[in-house]
Amino acid sequence: MYRIVRKEVMSPVIKLMEIEAPEVAAKAQAGQFIILRIDEEGERIPLTIADFDRTRGTITTIFQEVGYTTRRLGTLEAGDALADFVGPLGQPSEIANYGRVVCVGGGVGVAPVYPIARALKEAGNEVISIIGARTKELLIWEDEMRAVSSELLVATDDGSYGHHGFVTDLLKQVLEERGNVARVWGIGPVVMMRAVAETTRPFGVPTIVSMNPIMVDGTGMCGACRVSVGGETKFACVDGPEFDGHQVDWQLALRRMNMYREEEERILK
Ligand code: FES
Repeated sequence: MYRIVRKEVMSPVIKLMEIEAPEVAAKAQAGQFIILRIDEEGERIPLTIADFDRTRGTITTIFQEVGYTTRRLGTLEAGDALADFVGPLGQPSEIANYGRVVCVGGGVGVAPVYPIARALKEAGNEVISIIGARTKELLIWEDEMRAVSSELLVATDDGSYGHHGFVTDLLKQVLEERGNVARVWGIGPVVMMRAVAETTRPFGVPTIVSMNPIMVDGTGMCGACRVSVGGETKFACVDGPEFDGHQVDWQLALRRMNMYREEEERILK
């Protein structure tokens, strides 16, 4: 069993959980994810790794309650335990000294961006981070992101905090006014990641996105997590979750994401 050692309610629908899983924490790297199951009958859900602490043997994950399982997970408290906690899964981010990089996080996508920004900063990069949310209450980890970035820019869709507008407005500004950006990471909702990729495309800046499709086994066997990248079928769980944002078939990704929505809504009624 995997014990929850800390729970933080970040907003009514966003929760943080630090979970005891020493063997996962020992190997976890930026960019990877885990798959958990609340109990024997539960569905498996993939969650990105927001932080890992090898000394404490814990993994921190931040999730938004969007479906049946994440809502159930959100009702658990510190001291409760999970039946399964498998990972780290997926390929780690390619960390190197690129020079100037930009890390963009939207909504709970800020959480997986955090260890990537930290690793890039440690590797000697100038890290400009841009984080955003629909509104101020949904903005997470501003202080944490500031601590691992050379510079932090903030946007909210409704203008309640920081720039009034999208993270991509700020990204465009950085690309135009600073230039010399070697690489961009963008993690968040699919529509946001598509917008990040479309913003960087005319500038020819390599752009990495992290795909978080439906997953079942997490081992490349079931095909549930397939995405099309550069005309080839890839499995997000073993080949990703990071892919070249300029090569992803975004239309297909959006279609597949909506496939299970009806069933989910039926369960939640
Ligand atoms: Fe089954 Fe990726 S989750 S192939």
